[in-house]
Amino acid sequence: MLRFFAELGVRRLAATPHLHGALDDRERELVERGLEAVAPLAAEVGISVTPGFEVLLTPAVPERLAKGEPIGYAGTNAVLVELPFEFWPERSESMIFEIQTVEFQPVLAHPERYVAAQQDPSKVLELGERGVIMQVTYASLAGVKGRSARARAEQVIRECPRVILATDAHGNGTRLRAFEAGLARATEIVGPVRAAQLAAANPASILANQPFPIQAPLERKPESRSFFGRAKRGVSRWGDSKDGW
Ligand SMILES: [Fe+2]
Repeated sequence: MLRFFAELGVRRLAATPHLHGALDDRERELVERGLEAVAPLAAEVGISVTPGFEVLLTPAVPERLAKGEPIGYAGTNAVLVELPFEFWPERSESMIFEIQTVEFQPVLAHPERYVAAQQDPSKVLELGERGVIMQVTYASLAGVKGRSARARAEQVIRECPRVILATDAHGNGTRLRAFEAGLARATEIVGPVRAAQLAAANPASILANQPFPIQAPLERKPESRSFFGRAKRGVSRWGDSKDGW
């Protein structure tokens, strides 16, 4: 995975293992040993790895953060949280807002993949309006996770003000390999400048604990949203202006 990212020119990675309960000594040690194990290869390919977690959101999470449990992206006040895929727990929204109240920046993992959000996009769009950063998966944009996930991913990157893209790769497989197709799709949807922000400047700002960058305007022309516009575009590449995009 490190070699794959290095070839793409990636210089900084956030590694976010799942965390389903409070961070105990055993889990902390496991993560530390894992980071030590990859450190030599990461250094060899010129990538720095920022540790974090993908934290299952429960009512205890805001208080755990407030008490200093180190479950955010290291050295930042941002924390990646996820909900169960199959159902949207009651009070999810208020749990997320409580994270903001204790002065942490919530990043919501794969908003496009929650069944509830696929059925009712307003759930996710409202969180986006209230400052939650959305972490959309490249593989969803590439269509690997199905049509609903793709449609919702496209909507989130168009409509949510603060978005980052991530591989969410758990190994050297499909999700990792979907990176290029996913980025190409994002570029079609929001234009190259904004897509570069989603892929690079926005996540970099989180890891640097800096304010979220001002976002470039969407560049996609509205008429090409239609099915026929899309079909006509065919395989024409970005910047091939005769067909528009
Ligand atoms: Fe997840």
